[in-house]
Amino acid sequence: SKVVFVNGANRTEVEVLVGTSAMHAATDNLVGGIIGECGGDLSCATCHVFVDPEWFDRLDAPGVDERDMLEATSEEPTEFSRLSCQIPCTAETDGIVLHIPESQ
Ligand code: FES
Repeated sequence: SKVVFVNGANRTEVEVLVGTSAMHAATDNLVGGIIGECGGDLSCATCHVFVDPEWFDRLDAPGVDERDMLEATSEEPTEFSRLSCQIPCTAETDGIVLHIPESQ
């Protein structure tokens, strides 16, 4: 499954196994700008991304715990904010575009 990370003018495409979280897709491939300090336990909010508007509605809605943690992100969240540890890479998200915030 492909994930595209956009950081300013940089665009990095990574290929990961189905079921990998987008957070791990970034950290396992040394994509800068996503930290994932808690390892995906929904307790750090350092995996914040802005999902490309074209892709946002294709994801399942965030759960209540994720919504709570989205209030603790370093950079101000937008309507397209998600925590990337909660985005599974699947056939449906193949090619998803995620924008990396300036700070985590
Ligand atoms: Fe900590 Fe996503 S990795 S909340």
